[in-house]
Amino acid sequence: MRVIQISDTHLSAEKPHFLDNWRPLADWIKAQRPDLVIHTGDVTVDGAGNEADLAYAARLLDELGVRWRAVPGNHDVGDAGHARQPVDARRLAAWHRHFGPDRWIEDIGPDGTGWRLVGIDAMLIGDGAPEEAMQMAWLDEVMTTAGAQRIAWFLHRPLFLDAPQEGDRGYWSVKPQPRAALMALAQRHRVALVASGHLHKARDFEQDATRFVWSPASSFLVGDAIQPDMPGEKRLGAVLYEFGNPTFAVEIADIPGLRRHWLDDVIQQVYPR
Ligand SMILES: [Fe+2]
Ligand SMILES: [Fe+2]
Repeated sequence: MRVIQISDTHLSAEKPHFLDNWRPLADWIKAQRPDLVIHTGDVTVDGAGNEADLAYAARLLDELGVRWRAVPGNHDVGDAGHARQPVDARRLAAWHRHFGPDRWIEDIGPDGTGWRLVGIDAMLIGDGAPEEAMQMAWLDEVMTTAGAQRIAWFLHRPLFLDAPQEGDRGYWSVKPQPRAALMALAQRHRVALVASGHLHKARDFEQDATRFVWSPASSFLVGDAIQPDMPGEKRLGAVLYEFGNPTFAVEIADIPGLRRHWLDDVIQQVYPR
């Protein structure tokens, strides 16, 4: 089973600053003939403020002609506790209209002995709202009912940057308290893979017997003036997975034709304060 993870496409018809990287990405995806494409969020420039971005990006994904799933990023549905764009029922409803559920499972491979891929809405994490508790209860349940299947998580924001025990890394990773609960859950159920986006950096490493993969963005890179020092490689691309039984393979791939945009050059136009 071949799965492609893409992330942080930041698509918009009204703010087409990174749109020229969509065509090379789409052509590459089609050539790879994947069984499934998983988008780990920031699909749009500003779906959280402009539903037209969600509609536009969903149409581009449909035009791939490949089955796809997506989990939301902060620019798609807002963020937990954000001052201007909090994740709320209205923003989540807009996501559901264009992308379907914001959390989901995909069971792949031989019946009951293959893989359970789990999409998690990272934007609810740390919100303290009922929807967050509902997602945690749901996650508990889909872990328990996975049975003999191996488990992989896909979410926008990484659980941690340097180490699971680290303090609050602000915008860049999940907060320490919910992180501890998620790490414990991952340990308990021997989660094989946690795949994320958000950082616009690539990384592939192992921690406590779990593989952690940071998908590069396909849209733009973020300079040191905006992004603090952290691990990972500033490169654009996507991730190829081959889910076998019981092993799996990971390849962070370069995509021919991607332009190395830098957010720093256009931030005032794309994300004005
Ligand atoms: Fe992003
Ligand atoms: Fe993000």
